[in-house]
Amino acid sequence: MFKLSQLALGVALGMGIVVASTASVAADVASASASASVQPTHSVETTAMLNHDGEKLYKSACFVCHGTGAANAPKLGDKAAWAPRIAQGMETVMDIAIKGKGAMPPRGGASKADDATLRAAVEYMVKAGQ
Ligand code: HEC
Repeated sequence: MFKLSQLALGVALGMGIVVASTASVAADVASASASASVQPTHSVETTAMLNHDGEKLYKSACFVCHGTGAANAPKLGDKAAWAPRIAQGMETVMDIAIKGKGAMPPRGGASKADDATLRAAVEYMVKAGQ
């Protein structure tokens, strides 16, 4: 979308100022999209680093049920299954993750995981379900 509007702007400018400036318009578009891609890439990396422990815990302890839907667990990335849970608010979701509910064991069975890591795993799942 950004790239397209830059192109339109570049074309409009090119037509107004110099008729045959295709090369410089192309260069403008290229540099505009290059600088535009720097920030999103950076923030994605930051998020991934922050949630690294959570993702690791998810894969080692939670995936058995939440990756497969075993025991009727809300599956990772299943928006319909997560929407009503997310709607309860993060504190309620965390409370259930810590204490367990039905087939969901307390701390998802990861009794050695600390609160911060457990929370990161829950946030990882919640984000995937949004
Ligand atoms: C033995 C299977 C199993 C494992 C392992 C498991 N879960 Fe669950 N989990 C469930 C089931 C089943 C539910 C649905 C509970 C219900 O709503 O009755 C659930 C629900 C949840 C929910 C939603 C709570 C809510 O608000 O309704 C969260 C968050 C959650 N699990 C986190 C985790 C985390 C984090 C781990 C790993 C550390 C984990 N679970 C491991 C079975 C499991």
